[in-house]
Amino acid sequence: MQIKALRGTTDLLPPAVAHWQFVEKQARDMFRIYGFKEIRTPLLEETLLFTRAIGETTDLVEKQMYSFTDRGERNITLRPEGTAPIIRAYLEHHLDLKPGLARLFYVGPMFRAERPQAGRSRQFHQIGAEVIGSYEAQVDAEALSLLRHFFERVSLSGYTVHLNSLGCSKDKKEIGLTLQKTLEKNKDALCAECQERLHRNVYRILDCKKKECRKAVETLPSLLEKLCPDCTTHFETLKQYLTHSKVPFVIAPHLVRGLDYYTRTAFEITHPLLGAQDAVGAGGRYDGLVEELGGEPTGAFGFSIGFERLLLALEAQKISFEEESPLEIYIIPVGENLLKIAYEILHSLRKAGISSLLDFEKKSLKAQMRLANHLKARRVLLIGEDEVREKRVTLKEMGSGKERKVSQDRLVEELLKEIGKEKR
Ligand code: HAM
Repeated sequence: MQIKALRGTTDLLPPAVAHWQFVEKQARDMFRIYGFKEIRTPLLEETLLFTRAIGETTDLVEKQMYSFTDRGERNITLRPEGTAPIIRAYLEHHLDLKPGLARLFYVGPMFRAERPQAGRSRQFHQIGAEVIGSYEAQVDAEALSLLRHFFERVSLSGYTVHLNSLGCSKDKKEIGLTLQKTLEKNKDALCAECQERLHRNVYRILDCKKKECRKAVETLPSLLEKLCPDCTTHFETLKQYLTHSKVPFVIAPHLVRGLDYYTRTAFEITHPLLGAQDAVGAGGRYDGLVEELGGEPTGAFGFSIGFERLLLALEAQKISFEEESPLEIYIIPVGENLLKIAYEILHSLRKAGISSLLDFEKKSLKAQMRLANHLKARRVLLIGEDEVREKRVTLKEMGSGKERKVSQDRLVEELLKEIGKEKR
């Protein structure tokens, strides 16, 4: 039986990889402009990191982690998200002792054992960023501004930023109790799972997608009305800065996040062309997490974009991506015993940075021309017995069909000039 890729995982083949590279390049550029540095953490972490950071009663921890016991009886989890590992690394490597804020970004795979569907996979990728070391609302606004700038770069349009504040940890506790009391009164209106969630993690009810629960949630008062004065001021400042920097947003007073670490700012970005899984990215403030993981009290804010979902939205918007960079030269030796000289020329072209290929299979000229066409080579370089004697080669432009002879000595120089001109 043929072995296939696991359900919920995808092979990324060319030319789709070029789309990924394009998006990643724009993200990296944006992070550079906004003063972020890349961080790469392991894909494997101790399970405890996630249960403690994300919360034991979250769906992510209860149902979706790829956890296993390794040969040394250690409890290991494939990272389902990037924030907890980054805070672990931040503390482990004493980044908290460095001056200024830690502005870190990452691009990479995450793993969640979810039921696969369009826009939801078991191995997916995130582009994310974390700013650690500040409680200021301006940091939140700046990161959302970066996102707007990034979406503009990749031509994503029509998205909505849903914004809320969950309050500080004290507010969260109090609001949680009020929610419990209010929902308890009409407990039977909730789905069976939410009835059970009522006392375990009431915030999850606000996230439930079932119709009956959505209806019950709609009648709840806005979480924003319950914030303490400091949290209200924080949220007001954020809104002012967002308006000032022209970041569009809508207030979503019942928005909560599936991970327990959030405090104050929480947001989600949806795209109308994505279908059921319409969150293209999300994030917020998590002022208690550094302390929860053993550090000093430290403010922090971050976000992640779902790479696959972003690409799905761009494809649905019919954005055309840059073509992969073309193959400049396809070398065809025409005649016996010319492979060696063709190989030497191939080497000199590559050394000069000119993308070139040579087929070693000794196929006919016709078959090789067909292959050059298939590979969309810009030019074919023909080497025949006569040419070797004259120390020349024939260059054929595949677009126009024009041919010309070039001396071997001047080949690299002429090609570099020509390619340079085309690129301008
Ligand atoms: P999250 O909302 O769990 O947040 O995930 C962020 C984004 O990852 C989602 O909005 C979605 O686009 C994408 N995503 C999540 N699960 C899947 C999946 N199964 N398949 C495809 N895409 C998916 C976090 O992960 C937080 N760490 C974000 C954050 C960073 N908060 C603060 N800093």
